[in-house]
Amino acid sequence: MVIYEDKIILAPMVRIGTLPMRLLALRYGADLVYSEELIDWKFLRSKRTVNDILHTVDYVDQTDGTIVFKTCNEEKEKVILQLGTCDAGRALKVAKLVENDVAAIDINMGCPKEFSIKGGMGVALLAQPDKAYNILKTLVDNLSIPVTCKIRIQETPEKTLELVEKLASSGISAIGIHGRTRDERPQHAVHTDFIKYVSQRISIPVIANGGSKEIEKYGDIFKFKDLCGSSSVMLARAAEWNCSIFRKEGLLPMDTVIKDYLKLAVDYDNSPSNTKYCIQNILRELQDTPRGRQFLDCQTLKQMCAIWDLEDYCFKKQSEYHNMGIASRWQVNP
Ligand code: FNR
Repeated sequence: MVIYEDKIILAPMVRIGTLPMRLLALRYGADLVYSEELIDWKFLRSKRTVNDILHTVDYVDQTDGTIVFKTCNEEKEKVILQLGTCDAGRALKVAKLVENDVAAIDINMGCPKEFSIKGGMGVALLAQPDKAYNILKTLVDNLSIPVTCKIRIQETPEKTLELVEKLASSGISAIGIHGRTRDERPQHAVHTDFIKYVSQRISIPVIANGGSKEIEKYGDIFKFKDLCGSSSVMLARAAEWNCSIFRKEGLLPMDTVIKDYLKLAVDYDNSPSNTKYCIQNILRELQDTPRGRQFLDCQTLKQMCAIWDLEDYCFKKQSEYHNMGIASRWQVNP
């Protein structure tokens, strides 16, 4: 059973929080990892498939063959599936599908994007606390694994506490709090005082979030935690930029992180487009260098691997998979 006290956690991030990045975060020292947000009705189109060669469980979209969610034993006790939903029944159906493959379920109640709000999901749920409560209560009452949610703060600490108390009364095991309101953006200062106000008054563990701008090294995680008075901390951007932020021993150079990430992408046959996106978000402004531009031209894992001297690694792995009976989904002729 997941324990949410004293944990350092990889926060949910669309397109970033896929299997290779989650495993990298765990190997560097994260205690728990969230999946990217997966939308309930999309998930319901998928079928659970066991991949005996990669040793993964894949949820494959039956309409287009894409992998909606891929997981493996290494993360089984530590991966939290985040759902985007506005419907208790649908959320429960998905949760029941994955109940035996993940450690916990989280409901996204913080996403301010138009897609989420129009669909009544994400931060829209915070304007309908009864509905939000009902989704959580339905999951808590019917699942054997813990349920949590991730919210944004309200206009005042008092209103935030009122909301958290209501959600907590559903029986959730912990609550993630991003210290910004629905209208604030990442460049705005994070309201650690709001998180602290709630943390001091609520009995379930609070997972503080929103501090990445000030988190440049491992020790900064604990400064943020102290400011928030929280049980645990969840990192998004700091991990997106350099996942080795989770290492007690300190940050690794960017190229080492990219190499470690690329090996996992190859090992788990991650799609080139997702792999490229994640590396672009590590390289950031360095994309505008000769090597960055060379990278931007890459279309295959093998091409990306060549830039970081991993061509042989990639060739061997892909040949091995090929010989075992699966061609890479992405490179037909390894
Ligand atoms: C996010 N965030 C986010 N939140 C969430 O609940 N579900 C999601 O799928 C995503 N996706 C996502 C993608 C990317 C690229 C970023 C940068 C952020 C928000 C994220 O989890 C976090 O709340 C904020 O980024 C603030 O935390 P940091 O970045 O200061 O640690």
